[in-house]
Amino acid sequence: MISTRHYGAVDLTEGRDLQKPEILKWLRTEDARELEELWQAADAVRKQSVGDAVHLRGLLEISNHCIRRCGYCGLNAGNRELTRYRMSREEILACVATAVEYGYGTVVMQAGEDYGIATDWLAGIVRQIKQETGLAVTLSMGERPIDDLTVWRQAGADRYLLRFETTSPSLYERVHPADERQRPGRIDLLKILRELGYEIGSGVMIGIPGQSLSSLADDILLFRALDLDMIGVGPFIPHPQTMLGSSNSPVAPDADQVPNTEMMVYKVIALARLVCPQANIPSTTALATINTETGRENGLSRGANVVMPNLTPTKYRALYEIYPGKACINETAVQCRYCLEGRIESIRRRVGHGPGSRAGRVKERIVDGS
Ligand code: 5AD
Ligand code: FES
Repeated sequence: MISTRHYGAVDLTEGRDLQKPEILKWLRTEDARELEELWQAADAVRKQSVGDAVHLRGLLEISNHCIRRCGYCGLNAGNRELTRYRMSREEILACVATAVEYGYGTVVMQAGEDYGIATDWLAGIVRQIKQETGLAVTLSMGERPIDDLTVWRQAGADRYLLRFETTSPSLYERVHPADERQRPGRIDLLKILRELGYEIGSGVMIGIPGQSLSSLADDILLFRALDLDMIGVGPFIPHPQTMLGSSNSPVAPDADQVPNTEMMVYKVIALARLVCPQANIPSTTALATINTETGRENGLSRGANVVMPNLTPTKYRALYEIYPGKACINETAVQCRYCLEGRIESIRRRVGHGPGSRAGRVKERIVDGS
């Protein structure tokens, strides 16, 4: 077990070197005192590696169209009950102007895997944002072809988010039954994105049916092996219009099933911080959805250093229903801004300025000689 003594001193290498048996011990423990030790270790590593600033990433959900049929996601192509939308260029740029006005350092454009988003159309928007603002641009557009990812990178996109969801090939196939598996798979695609010069973000859901504690420990080890720049994790929240959320889901829980609890999410955030000290780690909306009172603050106090205020026009928010009951669907951009700034101040952290890129990477690359 980790002792806080190691973290009270400067030795961060120990967390970096955590091995699977130790990770599993942490995932299994329910002892309040031990957990307090984990939270403190993660918070100390966070403070030492990325400081007290909490970076704000303005989130724009630009389209809820999707060709995929992921077994957990409410946007899946089979969901006929969802009204689909795609934001216009003008709508997107108006929200980007709001991001600048509010002092956010990054805009994140996210969508289902939507080929109605033409490659050049999005490239033009990215180019304009990069020319006219100092914002970092993050894209999260699913498993698009490498040519698209290349064009967007050349247009100036800085970062790309693609969760690998699980390291277990058999679990991946069970929760993506309709996926034709043309490849590269998501993990290989992340490596390609890195080669293209993006900062890469990935992560997993906590508690999808069939996810064992052992495979979740493997996921955490993969965060480190991929040297992720950003790590996003949140609880699985069943959606009734999906395979995994339907009453007769064909995917059974594992004998050593990960619970989709708040506590398990905190453990994974804390462990992610220990294995990837310099990563940017958001306290996610899904976490805020299962604990609207203090979920975000607890995430920030147990390893996270980023929040993602929603900038999506309120009329579209309820339609970006990845899972039901999502936090902030009735709020406006300005409400999310002040809500999050207030929460950050309430735990005596400060709002970060500038793009808030991943710490340490350039230096490490030079030291590595790579
Ligand atoms: N519950 C929680 N998270 C979900 N995601 C998709 N569906 C759900 C759900 N039902 C997450 C996935 C996806 C990200 C955009 O949202 O991890 O990669
Ligand atoms: Fe949107 Fe709190 S972050 S209302």
